[in-house]
Amino acid sequence: MKLQNDTFLKALMREPTDYTPVWMMRQAGRYLPEYRESRKTAGSFLQLCKNPSFATEVTLQPLDRYPLLDASILFSDILTVPDAMGLGLYFEEGEGPKFERTLREEADIQKLAVPDMASLQYVFDAVSQIRKTLNGRVPLIGFSGSPWTLATYMVEGKGGTDFLTIKKMAYARPDLLHRILDITAQTVIQYLNAQIAAGAQAVMIFDSWGGALSHNAYIEFSLNYMQKIVNGLTREHDGRIVPRIVFTKGGALWLEAQAEIGADVLGLDWAVDIGSARKRVGDKVALQGNLDPAILLSTPAAIEKEVVNILASYGHGNGHVFNLGHGITQWTPQENAAAMLAAVREHSRQYHSK
Ligand code: CP3
Repeated sequence: MKLQNDTFLKALMREPTDYTPVWMMRQAGRYLPEYRESRKTAGSFLQLCKNPSFATEVTLQPLDRYPLLDASILFSDILTVPDAMGLGLYFEEGEGPKFERTLREEADIQKLAVPDMASLQYVFDAVSQIRKTLNGRVPLIGFSGSPWTLATYMVEGKGGTDFLTIKKMAYARPDLLHRILDITAQTVIQYLNAQIAAGAQAVMIFDSWGGALSHNAYIEFSLNYMQKIVNGLTREHDGRIVPRIVFTKGGALWLEAQAEIGADVLGLDWAVDIGSARKRVGDKVALQGNLDPAILLSTPAAIEKEVVNILASYGHGNGHVFNLGHGITQWTPQENAAAMLAAVREHSRQYHSK
């Protein structure tokens, strides 16, 4: 099963490519009618995640629609991990994720343990089945949440909060939060290594809420644990390096520190100019990003203009993977996503001339 398109894997390792590869965070999702159809058949979002055949079907949908995508990403969710840790994940129609139980009491936190990876076997089965079905078309990305981001859901019990419960814990009982983060980091290492063993060809750590922290707290409660994970990951599988992408949403203030933890690639949200980010990290890491997903709600002309700006800002040379600065929104017209992909392919070749 030879990989037919390794542009993405090469760019992650800052090797030369003919053009800038591109994928979209949340590329399999509600903006696609075929996704909404599959979700209806499966019954719910979680049933799509927990059934490897549905997860495979949905992972492939954006690739079938958009041949210009250079990577696929496992269809799942970061919250499968706290679910396996016994917190009881559920979704209510029209609302974000919630947990039946929260981790706030000292006794509950003392009882927290690394779950048996068998409880996440459906994820590893999905990875193998997706790899088989892809049959070498493009590489497959595996992923996990960062310990800090997962802990925000475990302590707060839901998304969309101001993080005051977990921040109070960070400042009043750092020992308790460190215990949660430590067990979660150990879990994520096993979880990502099992995804790699099942066939994930690159892995991404989503630190969606790291940007809510103060400078010192970010280093102590988020970055340190991502470093532990990166150090614990399988470096090579099937004769190829497995690149690691670390993405802290709202984290561009700390790019220099992020570049030191052993990741190959840093994800950028749209707030930072990618050219300045490149100067700050030098040749330590590749960069992934960073179009504002809201631009995809506008017009093909506006989208093309912004793609051109980002490519020009990054400039000549290797080490850029084009992406959105966060997940594609459910209101994105499908033709606008197509316009973005076409613009990246068309305008990026000039930056890769030998
Ligand atoms: O990128 C992909 O196509 C892969 C699939 C993927 C999903 N979630 C599917 C999903 C990935 C990589 C994630 C990661 C994830 N999940 C993150 C980190 C990235 C980020 O967005 O910051 C976070 C914080 C979550 C937790 C989560 N899952 C939230 C907050 C929500 C609800 C908000 C929303 O956008 O609806 C989800 C649900 C979710 N995860 C959906 C999808 C396609 C929508 C579910 C539906 O069909 O209704």
